[in-house]
Amino acid sequence: MKRMMIVAGSLLLGAGAVMAQQEIAVQQDNLMRSQAKSLYTVIQKMTKGDIPYNQKAVDEAIANLEADVAKIAKTFEVNPKQDVVDATYGSSQKVWQNKADFDSKIPPVQKAIAAVKGKIKDVASLKAAYTSINDRCADCHETYRVKLK
Ligand code: HEC
Repeated sequence: MKRMMIVAGSLLLGAGAVMAQQEIAVQQDNLMRSQAKSLYTVIQKMTKGDIPYNQKAVDEAIANLEADVAKIAKTFEVNPKQDVVDATYGSSQKVWQNKADFDSKIPPVQKAIAAVKGKIKDVASLKAAYTSINDRCADCHETYRVKLK
C-alpha cells in the first residue's frame, strides 16, 4: 500500500513537472505574441493603411513593446525543453546553450525603440520605425527561432 502511494505520488509529480514546463513555454510564446500585437497588428497595419493612423495607438504600441522587450531575458531564463502544443514557432536549444549571446540580441531592439520613441508623427516616420525595430527582432529570430510547421 505504502509502495503504491509512493508510485502514485511520483507519477503526479511527473505530470506536474510536464505541466509546469508547458506553462513556461506558453509564457515565452505569449510574450512574443504580445510584441507581435504591438508591432504587426497595430504598427505594421497602419503603415499599410489597413487601419488609419492613430497617434495614441502608436504611442501605446511603442510603450508596450518597450515593456515587453525588457522582459525577454528573464522570461527565457528557464529551458522548458518542449514547444507550445500546436505552435508554429519554437525556440532553438541554442537559446540555452548560448544564453549570453541570445541576451545580447535584446539591447539592439531596445535601442531601435528608444531611437523612435516620441518621434513618430506620421505614416512615413512610422514606416521607418517599423523597419528599424523589425530588423532587430529578426536578428534574434534568425538564430534562435525555429519554424515548426
Ligand atoms: C533575443 C531573441 C528575440 C528577440 C529580440 C525577439 N524574439 Fe520573437 N522569438 C524568439 C524566440 C526564441 C521565438 C520562438 C519561441 C516562442 O515563440 O516563444 C520567438 C517567436 C516569435 C514569434 C512567433 C510566436 C508564435 O508562436 O506564433 C513572434 C510573432 C515574435 N517572436 C515576434 C517578435 C517581435 C515583434 C520582436 C521584436 C519586437 C521579437 N520577437 C524579438 C526570440 C526573440
